[in-house]
Amino acid sequence: MKHDLQVQILKELMRQIDDGKNIDAGVQYKVPTSIYADQDLAKNEWDSFFKNHPQMIGLSGDLPEPNSFLTVNDFGVPVIATRDKTGRFRAFLNICRHRATRVETDQRGKRKLFVCPFHAWSYSTAGELVVVADESDFGDVDKSCRGLIELPAAEAGGLLFVHPQPDGELDVEALLGKELLDEIASNGFDELVFGADKTLDMKLNWKLANDTFGETYHFQKLHKDTLGQLFIGNNTHYEEFGRNHRFTTANLGIHELRNQPEQEWQIQKGTFVGYHLFPNIEMFWVGDTLSLIRIYPDADNPGRSISQVSIYYTKEAYEQAISLDEDARAQAVEDTYKFDTTVSPSIEASLEVFTSTIEQEDYVMGEFQQQAAESGLAGEAIFGRNEPVLHHFHRSYREALGLPHFERVETTAH
Ligand code: FES
Ligand SMILES: [Fe+2]
Repeated sequence: MKHDLQVQILKELMRQIDDGKNIDAGVQYKVPTSIYADQDLAKNEWDSFFKNHPQMIGLSGDLPEPNSFLTVNDFGVPVIATRDKTGRFRAFLNICRHRATRVETDQRGKRKLFVCPFHAWSYSTAGELVVVADESDFGDVDKSCRGLIELPAAEAGGLLFVHPQPDGELDVEALLGKELLDEIASNGFDELVFGADKTLDMKLNWKLANDTFGETYHFQKLHKDTLGQLFIGNNTHYEEFGRNHRFTTANLGIHELRNQPEQEWQIQKGTFVGYHLFPNIEMFWVGDTLSLIRIYPDADNPGRSISQVSIYYTKEAYEQAISLDEDARAQAVEDTYKFDTTVSPSIEASLEVFTSTIEQEDYVMGEFQQQAAESGLAGEAIFGRNEPVLHHFHRSYREALGLPHFERVETTAH
């Protein structure tokens, strides 16, 4: 991110903190809670945003070297993503061309050949069918047209995108816009190293999961003993890029920046910078780490979603984190909610901060909201003037589905 923009955002957050007043969208919206339980809407979302829409599946650091691979099974088609032996990012259906079982079952790793577990047909990381086991018994196979089925794949700004349909269109610049893509590329996300990941499988609609990441109003209430120890809450800088947005809020480090010359300010030392990439990606950049959350509906159940959480580090922070001895790791987990910008927490501590807060606080609220939505008795919820990120997320997917935006509630400022 350009330095003058970093300074501008930090100053705006300092102003909000000094004024004791969060961002103001100037409008509230009435939100029918039925949107979280509606089967027809859920089917429409699945078809439009997951089955037939480009998907961001990870960062460049998920495929750190030639012949690295990653498998994902989150949006209806099994995918095997590789960095082939030349270093090029590619993606294929993880479906064997013999009798269509899954070729690779590990989640990530490095291989020269993928050997199908059923009858041992083998494929290269470029998708070529290399070996047909016992070919003289099986009969002739034209290997040149029996490679893994390739999917459109693109690596840009350190992000990995695939399209779930072999004939789908994938244009990352059209998805993100040039301005946002350039900004993300300038953040150095392509250099980050994968640290750890965790799957959260919970009983809440995928939009409720997204919603929990869309406001700072709750930080000092729901998270007062956890993330509220690190982040100030009730301050938001927010900018839209088409259907995507950037959302920044201050952590305690912002107070230290006030004592430093502006030219030395680094935004990730005083805030987290959140990027929402339409429809289901949340990324949070803070200090030396980036947390990625990919949120997926259950195709058959609007009341369930899967969140794939992964954490990435700068090379230096990764080296420091893995060099911690057992005592230091235990201490880092213990100190999880003590704010200290000089220390890289252990990988366990980073994952702990992030996933336990989501699982035990945010998504618990979401499960209650889901139960209310499914009761059919909860009527309307309200998105406040201090929740513009939620306004944008809902406006974006509704526009994409040809649905009207929610009804406004006109209010006056106090
Ligand atoms: S299904 Fe893969 S080798 Fe038979
Ligand atoms: Fe939260």
